[in-house]
Amino acid sequence: DKPWTIPDLAAAKRAGHKLAMLTAYDAGFARVFDAAGADLILVGDSLGMVAQGHNSTLPVTVDDIAYHTASVARGLKRALLVADLPFQSDATPERALEASTRLLQAGAQMVKLEGAGHKLETIRFLVEREIPVCGHLGLTPQSVLRFGGYKVQGREEAAAKKLRADAAAIADAGAQLLVFECVPSALAETITREIPVPTIGIGAGPGCDGQVLVLHDFLGLDSGHRRPRFVKDFLAQGGSIDGAVRAYVAAVRDGSFPDAEHSYA
Ligand code: KIV
Ligand code: NA
Repeated sequence: DKPWTIPDLAAAKRAGHKLAMLTAYDAGFARVFDAAGADLILVGDSLGMVAQGHNSTLPVTVDDIAYHTASVARGLKRALLVADLPFQSDATPERALEASTRLLQAGAQMVKLEGAGHKLETIRFLVEREIPVCGHLGLTPQSVLRFGGYKVQGREEAAAKKLRADAAAIADAGAQLLVFECVPSALAETITREIPVPTIGIGAGPGCDGQVLVLHDFLGLDSGHRRPRFVKDFLAQGGSIDGAVRAYVAAVRDGSFPDAEHSYA
């Protein structure tokens, strides 16, 4: 299998090929995920919660993401590597360019940033400077203080309308991938049909162009918090880490994950 490139993402959407993504934070997991068929690997700022033990992603720094990105990159042969811009590293276009340059130099091929609004200018700024960008809408964890917790987004009509407009604006600004986190399935499906950019869901239903799960959730580790609805323990099904990834990739590809039980109506 040849390595994934950025132009392959839009081509996959056109071909109806569903994308299977997982987070990883070190070379060991990255190597196994890559060999078992994951298309995309994300060095998420979720590492602040699952690896560092914080109760939000806000403490994560560019140094942290760059360190883990360099480790993960050494484990990959074909999966495309996306790295998160951590809290406030994207507060201005200039800061975002500086942080993104570091992450691409550490081995990422794309950076992900949360939200729309003033971030649209930043997306355009980065794309014009040869930084591929992934957007992230819905339950954006860096907005946890404003949200007052981790809650499903886009349930009310006005919020759904805004999410639709934001997704179109992110695609228009040049982003080449878009994550939907914890949004109702029907809304994610509608937007997925409306935009040319592949959408990746986590708690966003089966209508997205791909799925992502956080490593620790994927392996069924107890986080000390209530298990989110969208989490399915693939290790129980796959019998080994390699088997779990193969089961997950197959279920994403054939559309059997997520089902209604692992989505928000
Ligand atoms: O940080 C992360 O792991 C993420 C995914 C949940 C999409 O942003
Ligand atoms: Na993240």
